[in-house]
Amino acid sequence: MRVVLNIWRQKNTREKGQFVSYPMDNVNPDMSMLECLDVLNEELIEKGEDPVAFEHDCREGICGSCGFMINGIAHGPLPATTVCQLTMRHFKEGEELLLEPWRARPFPLIKDLVVDRRSFDRIIASGGYISVSTGSAPDGNAILVSKEKSDRAMDAAACIGCGACVAACPNASAALFTGAKIAHLGILPQGKPESDRRAVRMVVQMNEEGFGGCTNIGECTGVCPKEIPLEVIAAMNRDYIRGAWRQRDIQITRQKPFTEWSTGSKLKTDPAR
Ligand code: SF4
Ligand code: FES
Repeated sequence: MRVVLNIWRQKNTREKGQFVSYPMDNVNPDMSMLECLDVLNEELIEKGEDPVAFEHDCREGICGSCGFMINGIAHGPLPATTVCQLTMRHFKEGEELLLEPWRARPFPLIKDLVVDRRSFDRIIASGGYISVSTGSAPDGNAILVSKEKSDRAMDAAACIGCGACVAACPNASAALFTGAKIAHLGILPQGKPESDRRAVRMVVQMNEEGFGGCTNIGECTGVCPKEIPLEVIAAMNRDYIRGAWRQRDIQITRQKPFTEWSTGSKLKTDPAR
């Protein structure tokens, strides 16, 4: 089949970018979108041109590395599908496709279709974990978890951190991502003791990174390849409000950088912790 890929090419944040058109005449309909880019890159390399930069790892919808806009839709037109799972047969013969990176201020562009999503890592580092004493594995049935709760926690835990929700949101809100990361721990009994601190710190960090507020538009869940429900945003707001009230005497200010990669970012520290 034949398609025309109009791809955003930009060397770095300092230089201006532009769409460059690449007609592809012999596309196998069973190729994934990323395999189509692989073929294009082989051709570009053979011609001595710069290959298109794009992120990928597992290529089976698990790792969350891949992702870009296709014709204005995060991860393309197929629901619940990452670009690495999206095959070319879902496009029409001769179709023109517009490929561009996630566009959101907290995701600065690195090159072409690759953006820097370390703001997500910093949100998780600020509280998206359960502090436990390590030791021998506890008995599997020591803490009973209802089926309903374990299902909801597992649904939230399906978030792969791809960033499509931010890219699709007109506010560039990370509420679906942060909500998923808060909910998948907070719903379980093991995550309850830290739920106040977790929600406050992660929401503070999310705001500090420059993500916009959620206004319940719902584009995020519409493009999410893991179909994370809006319910996680409600859970985040509930935990945040409760946590902020219970910690109202503690001034939540700056968080120290946790690791080398976050040095230089404007992180906040909670002096009480
Ligand atoms: S909530 Fe969905 S769209 Fe957002 S980062 Fe997680 S998997 Fe990706
Ligand atoms: S490459 Fe891992 S989800 Fe697409």
